[in-house]
Amino acid sequence: MDYRRAGKSGILLPAISLGLWHNFGDVDSLARSKDKLHYAFDHGITHFDLANNYGPSAGSAEETFGKIMKTSFAPYRDELFVSTKAGHDMWPGPYGTWGSRKHLTASLNQSLKRMNLDYVDIFYSHRYDPETPLEETLQTLVDIVRQGKALYVGISKYPPEAARKAYAYLKDHDVICLLYQGRYNLLNREPEEQGILQQAAENGSGFVAFSPLAQGLLTNRYLKGIPEDSRIARGGFLKKEALTEDLLQKIIRLDRLACERGQSLAEMSLAWLLAHPLVTSVIVGASSVEQLADNLKALENISFSQEEQQTIQAILQ
Ligand SMILES: NC(=O)c1ccc[n+]([C@@H]2O[C@H](COP(=O)([O-])OP(=O)(O)OC[C@H]3O[C@@H](n4cnc5c(N)ncnc54)[C@H](OP(=O)(O)O)[C@@H]3O)[C@@H](O)[C@H]2O)c1
Repeated sequence: MDYRRAGKSGILLPAISLGLWHNFGDVDSLARSKDKLHYAFDHGITHFDLANNYGPSAGSAEETFGKIMKTSFAPYRDELFVSTKAGHDMWPGPYGTWGSRKHLTASLNQSLKRMNLDYVDIFYSHRYDPETPLEETLQTLVDIVRQGKALYVGISKYPPEAARKAYAYLKDHDVICLLYQGRYNLLNREPEEQGILQQAAENGSGFVAFSPLAQGLLTNRYLKGIPEDSRIARGGFLKKEALTEDLLQKIIRLDRLACERGQSLAEMSLAWLLAHPLVTSVIVGASSVEQLADNLKALENISFSQEEQQTIQAILQ
């Protein structure tokens, strides 16, 4: 495993991290979840990314992780870097969502119980809340660190102006904003276009990319139709409509380029992100050990010739 420094901190993260948004809920097989988590850790993936609402059902991914924590990971707690988040809809009523002190504090307490942990390594504000005063959200993050419930904090999907205020507030209160977590992949360049990568670096924070495979679109999964066991077929956040004919043609051309590089499309898509010097880690999802194994192979070649970069740009224009 290649370990990369998160911004200007003391923390090294694996170039490839594993996220538990999908595939680890109570609708999934516990044995398969265990196999993936073990495989990941055995191959140097020390960073596991969770959130209060991951599942489905909401909370059940943390429960799955908590079971593995108890039965196999407990002796290795200090070798693991575990994250959780709060800010999206979790429980009914006005305190079950967004960025209030009430929500963040109660949610983290619940998460720690579900995961069988005394503390998380990083706790994120999962999304910017335009209604709650930003100072309330940020002071709660500061207090959570002071209470020892998280070692570091992070922000996810914050627009640049809110991120700027967050970096400054946390710095003023001697708390490290370790990571900015944003959607970044070949099909979504917002972190570059909005200056988010640069801003994180300038503030000494690392950047971790979520949905690096565009939820599976940037793999060989949909080249020959929609498999029954795929994320699109299961329904949810990735809609059938996202896979337009135009996009499919682009994916087919990207797949051809990946073949020429001796990689799968998933490997090339991850390698392309990891070639960026400001990307600390890519957080992949995986519905099988085989996918995880394939994703890890991305690390074998993360360099791109100028011609390959140009071909990618031309395909995606
Ligand atoms: N901060 C946030 O708001 C936020 C939002 C979203 C995600 N995240 C984090 O990012 C993590 C990853 O997100 P994601 O699951 O959307 O990531 P992703 O890596 O873009 O997509 C994962 C899906 O791609 C397919 N796949 C993965 N590897 C493959 C391979 N080698 N070959 C073929 N198909 C492959 C699988 O789809 P099938 O299931 O169809 O097999 C898998 O479930 C989440 O678990 C979460 O931790 C954070």
